[in-house]
Amino acid sequence: MGRQSMSTDLPEAFCQVCGGSVKEFLDLGRQPLSDHFLSPEQHEDEYFYQLAVGVCQSCGMVQAVEQVPRELMFREDYPYYSSGSQVMREHFTRTAEDLLEQELTGPSPFVVEVGCNDGVMLRRMARDGVHHLGFEPSGRVATTAASHGVQVRTEFFDEDSASRVRTEHGPANVIYAANTLCHIPYVGSVLRGAETLLAENGVFVFEDPYVGDIVAKNSFDQIYDEHFYFFGATSVRAMARSHHMELVDVKRLPVHGGEIRYTLARQGEREPSPAVDELIGREQREGLTDHSVLRDFADRVHGVRRDLTTLLRDLRDQGSTVAAYGATAKSATVTNYCGIGPDLVSSVYDSTPAKQGRLTPGARLPVLPSENFGPPYPDYALLFAWNHAEEIMAREKEFRARGGRWILYVPKVQVI
Ligand code: SAH
Ligand code: TYD
Ligand code: ZN
Repeated sequence: MGRQSMSTDLPEAFCQVCGGSVKEFLDLGRQPLSDHFLSPEQHEDEYFYQLAVGVCQSCGMVQAVEQVPRELMFREDYPYYSSGSQVMREHFTRTAEDLLEQELTGPSPFVVEVGCNDGVMLRRMARDGVHHLGFEPSGRVATTAASHGVQVRTEFFDEDSASRVRTEHGPANVIYAANTLCHIPYVGSVLRGAETLLAENGVFVFEDPYVGDIVAKNSFDQIYDEHFYFFGATSVRAMARSHHMELVDVKRLPVHGGEIRYTLARQGEREPSPAVDELIGREQREGLTDHSVLRDFADRVHGVRRDLTTLLRDLRDQGSTVAAYGATAKSATVTNYCGIGPDLVSSVYDSTPAKQGRLTPGARLPVLPSENFGPPYPDYALLFAWNHAEEIMAREKEFRARGGRWILYVPKVQVI
C-alpha cells in the first residue's frame, strides 16, 4: 500500500499519483469501514485500519496514507443511496441538463458515468433517450439504477474496463464522476482509461469535496476510508498534466459541505478558463499544500474533539437526552475518533432502510428510522448530516419548536 517501512522507525508513505514523499499531518486513529452497518446479532470482528492523511511534497496532493481494499468498501450491500436527499436529486438533475446543453450537443452523443450509484444523474439521460452507460460495482444500488431504465455495468471503472467500453460503444463525449474519483487510489488507471475512452474533444468532468473547504470548515469528518484523495486545483492540474490532459475549468459547488467540479480535456483541445489560474493563485496564498498550514488544521481538529466530547459528557452528567441525526459515512470518523458511544448518544435517526435496525460501525450506535424522530424528542440532536442541514432542519422544524436543540461541530461546536 502507500505506506512502507524504511530503515528508521517511522513509516514513510508515497504519493499514489506521482510517487513523491507524503508528509503526514493528521492521524485519526483506528477506524472501521464507514459504510459497514452491523446487524445487532453480528459479533464478528470488524475490519479496522489506521486513518491518517498527509500531503505530497512534490505534487501537493492531500491523501490517506493507508488504502482499504476496494472490495471491502464497495460490495453488494453498499448502503449509500444518492437519491436519499431532495437537494442532491435536484443537483444531479440540473447537472444532467447542463451536460446535455453544453457538451452533449452533437448528433449521437455518448456519456459515461463512473460511480452512478442508484442512477440519480443518468435517469435524466435515460429519460431523453441519450446513449449512456454507468459503472457501478456495488450490486444493490446498481440494480436500483437499472430499475430506473439506466444502462449499468456492475464493475469498477479502470484502464481495462474503459478500453472494453471504447471497443463496444465507441468514444465518449463526456465522462462524469461525482464523489467517486476521490474514492479511487488507483486514479492513474482511471485517467489512462479516460484517455482511451474520450472522444478527441471530449471532457472528463468530476466533482469531489474541496480540500480548501475542509481546511476552512475544520470538516475532518470528510476524512474516512472511502475518501482517499482531497483534491484542490493545484493538485488536480498536476495530476491531469501527468496524463496528457489539462485542467480547463473549475467551479465551486455548495453541496456536501463545499466541492469543486473539475473539467479536464486533452492537452491543446480547449483553452483553460481564467478561473483555473485564479483558484490556483488563491490556494497558493492560503498555503493549501503547505505542511505547516495543514498542521494548524490538525490542531483545530483536536480542538473540535475536545469541545464536542466535553459538551456531550456535560449533557449526560446533567441528565439531558442526546440522539444523533443522519447515519453518514462521515460520522464513523467522528464517533470513533472522539470516542462517542451509546453512553453519550443513544441512537442515530436515518431515512435509509438499508441502515435502519443496524448498528453504526465501530461505535455501535443503534440506527432508527427517521420517521420515528418525533415526540417525545430527545433534548439534543447531534447533526451528523450537517451537509444537509437546511433540508433536515426544514423537515424536522417541530423538533426545535418543541424546545429541542441541534448540536453542530462544523466549523466549530455549537448548540442552536
Ligand atoms: N455519484 C454518486 C455516488 C457516490 S458514492 C453521488 O455522488 O452521490 C461512490 C460510488 O462510487 C459508490 O456507489 C461506489 O460503489 C462507486 N465506485 C467506487 N469505485 C468505483 C470505480 N472504480 N468505478 C466505478 N464506481 C466506483
Ligand atoms: P451524506 O451526508 O450524503 O453522505 P455520507 O454518508 O457519504 O457522509 O449522507 C446522508 C445520510 O443522512 C444518509 O444516510 C441519509 C440521511 N438523511 C436522512 O436521514 N434524512 C434526510 O433528510 C437527509 C437529507 C439525509
Ligand atoms: Zn504527488
